[in-house]
Amino acid sequence: MSIFKVGLIGFGTIGAGVAKLLLGKEKEVQTAVGHTIKLVKICDKDLATDRGVDLPEGILTDNLSDILDNKEIDIVIELIGGLEPARTFVLKALRAGKNVVTANKALLANHGPELFEEARLQKKTIAYEAAVGGGIPILASIGTSLQANRIESIQAILNGTCNFILSQMEGKGTDYQDAVREAQRLGYAEANPAMDVEGIDTVQKLTILAQLAFGASVNWKEISCKGIDSVSAIDIQYAEALSCRIRLIADARRTEEGLELKVAPTLVPFSSPLAQVKDAFNAIQVVGDFVGPVFYQGLGAGQRPTASAVCSDVIDTVLGRAAITFSTLNLWGKDRAGILVKPSNDVLRKAYLRVGVEDKTGVMSEISGILASQGISIASIIQREGIDKTNPMVNMILMTHAATEGNLKKAIEKIDRLSYVMNKTVCLGVQG
Ligand code: HSE
Repeated sequence: MSIFKVGLIGFGTIGAGVAKLLLGKEKEVQTAVGHTIKLVKICDKDLATDRGVDLPEGILTDNLSDILDNKEIDIVIELIGGLEPARTFVLKALRAGKNVVTANKALLANHGPELFEEARLQKKTIAYEAAVGGGIPILASIGTSLQANRIESIQAILNGTCNFILSQMEGKGTDYQDAVREAQRLGYAEANPAMDVEGIDTVQKLTILAQLAFGASVNWKEISCKGIDSVSAIDIQYAEALSCRIRLIADARRTEEGLELKVAPTLVPFSSPLAQVKDAFNAIQVVGDFVGPVFYQGLGAGQRPTASAVCSDVIDTVLGRAAITFSTLNLWGKDRAGILVKPSNDVLRKAYLRVGVEDKTGVMSEISGILASQGISIASIIQREGIDKTNPMVNMILMTHAATEGNLKKAIEKIDRLSYVMNKTVCLGVQG
């Protein structure tokens, strides 16, 4: 039995959860793992806030060198989030000969190649289960349990805040702004919810999944990404009429021409397990060539689920499992050619278009003409007569067959320039 010493950088909500788990379960972990895992230092610039954890004397410090220059520390957990100084701290930890565990998806989505290259150079590992899907062991599943498969597709709900907002809108008929306020009141959404509702958090997580599952090197900023901020209560009602729910879906799909990646609010049929995922839950459906579809669901955020993932990475590192996974997978690296990623304008999607128009003769024919001119075929149309006779606007819902992102964009630009179009076109994805 050996003793492995751990240093934790970042004592916020997740850091406190990790400290509770590692300090509170030291004996159980020792029995299960066969080694002692000892949290010996926690570094944070705020030493005053009570995080609700009983800490041994002298464990808390605001001096980073107490961790990075401590030769006895084997593993550094980075939980400060954001890009800098997290990137510098991780590089320093690797260069100081420490293995790293992180929950920081923004860091990996932006600096993955550099950090993984450094880890290889130093013969160390970076484990990052908590960066995607919180407590759901999706990276371990793709990286080990499904290793014998060629992954064909991934469809996932990766942001609990967005899923909570959409669930509120469909369950209570709340409008978007009220649902965001409720998410903020309950502590799911930040005061500035942009990272979540604009889909940035989701697209960064998709980048990490695409890297691991398909060996795809892709800049998250080049992935087609729409957030939930364009979804209105009326879209939820139309979706319901079409036997669908709207979910923010991250989609990765292997095609003959390359990998298609996209994030968008998407109409998902009631019959799909993704439509049944409610509130702040995350879910991931992976399709492998031999295993077929596998479905994972769990809490994608929060103190305890995220701490669970971080601590399992610490255990994997101690047992050498992280090193095996790290060395065998086609993870980020400058000489690692992966699958070709299709440009976002060539990605195919079926679309739901809501166009707010004046109810005039010829409107439908002009709009369908624009779609036809871009090679977009209409699958179905819904237009209900306006109930409010004082409002000249009616919503026209056009469901399209699969069309490229580029053609959809061009058609929408043209439609939105028509004089009788009163509201900018809302474009959502359609599953299938
Ligand atoms: N804000 C994210 C969510 C969790 O709501 O799912 C952290 O990525």
